[in-house]
Amino acid sequence: MRVSKADSERIPTYIAGLDDRLGGGIPKGHVVLVSGPAGSLKSTIVYRILFHEATERGASALYLSMEQSRKSLLSQMSAFGMDAAKAETLNVIDIRGLRRELETNSMQPHWFLGLRQQLTRYKAELGCDLIAIDSLDALYALTPFENPRNEIFQFLEEVRDLDATTFLISEMPADRKTFGQFNVEEFLADGILHLRIKEVEVGLTTSVRRFIAILKMRGIEHDMDYYPLLVQRGRFEIVTD
Ligand SMILES: Nc1ncnc2c1ncn2[C@@H]1O[C@H](COP(=O)(O)OP(=O)(O)OP(=O)(O)O)[C@@H](O)[C@H]1O
Ligand SMILES: [Mg+2]
Repeated sequence: MRVSKADSERIPTYIAGLDDRLGGGIPKGHVVLVSGPAGSLKSTIVYRILFHEATERGASALYLSMEQSRKSLLSQMSAFGMDAAKAETLNVIDIRGLRRELETNSMQPHWFLGLRQQLTRYKAELGCDLIAIDSLDALYALTPFENPRNEIFQFLEEVRDLDATTFLISEMPADRKTFGQFNVEEFLADGILHLRIKEVEVGLTTSVRRFIAILKMRGIEHDMDYYPLLVQRGRFEIVTD
């Protein structure tokens, strides 16, 4: 596949329609917060970006699954048509794997510190063009904070220094108005993709639909509309009528 210079500086979301709204995709090296409620496709959308980048552009990628086991995540993604065996440069590490590695380096229970050092090690060993942390909330739950805002600030600065395009998944109940748990993540991130689940009346039935909006993307002129997100046979697209 030929990649033009402009394309090579962007990471597509692989959601048809959304990439046009981003002028091709997310600028490389950005730290992007992906916020939304349970079942809004946060993990799938982020995994799918890493999967496509690994299989189609040979990128090396690291997906840290802090909540869902590696086995469960891979089987879910395989049902979406993404066979892990085809993505040799996509490394998925779950909490058990991470715990083992941190123990080897005697970094437990300093999860935040341990993860910071581990990420630097992964970067040196694997390259890591892309990193996903799923989720920040699960990571926080393992971390005794003294000064959360300060520690999160430092963590995100170090993540940014890795020079990888990074996706930070944030679990966001529908009634919450901030996009990260400590109300700092959204200011520190370069971009925010917000997923929403909204009730709609369809005839006599009440159903729910998924929506996606780009609420922030440094360096890009974009709209802030919530578009319906459709998923059919492994294809993701927004409806723009
Ligand atoms: N093969 C499939 N094809 C289409 N949709 C699917 C498929 N498998 C699962 N889903 C949908 O994907 C949803 C789960 O997506 P995902 O795990 O990415 O969400 P999430 O936002 O990460 O959720 P959580 O906050 O619980 O981690 C399921 O609730 C289901 O609606
Ligand atoms: Mg998830």
